[in-house]
Amino acid sequence: MKLPLPVDLASLAKVILSPECKNICILTGAGVSVASGIPDFRSPGGMYDTLKPELLTASAQEKRYMEQDPTYVVTWDIFRNNQFPYMEVRRPFILGTRNHQWKATIANRFAELLHTKTGKLRRIYTQNIDGLQRQCQDIPDETIVNVHGTISKAGCEHCGHDMDFDEFCNQVQTKIKDIYGVDEKAPSESTPIFCEECGKAMVKPKTVLFGRSLPSEFFECCERDLPDLDLLIVAGTSLVVSPANSLVYKVPDTTLRVVVNNEPVGMELGIDYNGKGPGCRDFYAQGQCDAVFLNLIQELGWLEDLKQKRDELPPASIQLLDSANSG
Ligand code: APR
Repeated sequence: MKLPLPVDLASLAKVILSPECKNICILTGAGVSVASGIPDFRSPGGMYDTLKPELLTASAQEKRYMEQDPTYVVTWDIFRNNQFPYMEVRRPFILGTRNHQWKATIANRFAELLHTKTGKLRRIYTQNIDGLQRQCQDIPDETIVNVHGTISKAGCEHCGHDMDFDEFCNQVQTKIKDIYGVDEKAPSESTPIFCEECGKAMVKPKTVLFGRSLPSEFFECCERDLPDLDLLIVAGTSLVVSPANSLVYKVPDTTLRVVVNNEPVGMELGIDYNGKGPGCRDFYAQGQCDAVFLNLIQELGWLEDLKQKRDELPPASIQLLDSANSG
C-alpha cells in the first residue's frame, strides 16, 4: 500500500495516524543528539572538524594519517596498534556517559511517543553510541538496534572479554590523558588499560570501529523489518556511512521515506528532493531535529504527553518546548 506523499508536517501526522500506515522504522544519526550537547561528526565544530592529532599519543605517521583523514582515529587499523588516540579523543564522552551528563532529546522522545501512542514503531536503528535512545524507557529494549555499538559498555577487542564499565571508567580517568584541558586530575601521559583476561591493551567501549563488522542483530532485523515497511524516517544523519545507510535503498519502492535534517542528504542513495510526480515517495522535513519533531508531535496531538517528560529533557529541548507552550 503506497501512502500519500505528505506536503507538510500536518499531512505527515495524518499519514502516521492513518490505518494504512502500519509499520514504521527510524534511522537516526548524531543530529538527533545535538540538542543534548553532544556534537555531531561531520558538521563544522563536529568531532572530525575539531580533531587535533598533534595532541594525541601517536607516531608521526599516525598523526599524518589523522591529519589527512580525521576518521582514521576511529578505525580498527590504528586502534589495534595503538589504543591511545581513540581513548584520548573519547575520554570526556566515556566519563560523561558514566556521569549521565547527557539527556534524551525531543527527537528521541518522539520515537518513544510513536511507540506508546500508536504501537507502529517496528525498530529504531540508531548509529549513535551515546545511549540517549535507551533513556526512553517506554521503548522495549529489542526495538532499538545500536548499529555502531554503545559507549556505555566496555570490552576487549582482542578476546571479547567484557570489563565492568565503572572499573573501566576509573582506569580511563587515571590512565588516559585529557587532551581537552577540562580535568586537572588527569595524568599528563597516557598508560595502557590492559584486558584482565588476555592481558592485551585492547579494552575500549563496545563501539564499532571502521573496519569491524556491525552487530549481526543489524542484518537480522533488516531482513525482518524492511520488506513490508510503510514508512522510514531518517533523522540527523549524513547517510555517508555504510552499511547503516543501506536502509534507505533496501526498503521497497512503496515505502514512504521522510528525511528530518538541516541539510539534504542521501541524494547518491536515491533520495529525491525535487520529485513531486506520482512515483515520488520522499518527503523532506528540513530543520533542526528537535524543532521538527516538536512540531510533528504537536500535529499528532501528543504535546501534553511530551510535557510529562519535560524534566527529563536537556536544557535546549526544555527551552524549545516552553516556547511552543507560550507560542
Ligand atoms: N538538526 C538537524 N540536522 C542536524 C543537526 C540538528 N540539530 N545537527 C547535525 N545535523 C545534521 C548534519 O548536517 C549532518 O547531515 O545531521 C547530520 C550528521 O551527520 P554526521 O555528523 O556525519 O553524523 P552521522 O550521520 O551520525 O555519522 C554516521 O559516522 O563517524 C561515524 O560512527 C560514526 O555513527 C557515526 C557515523
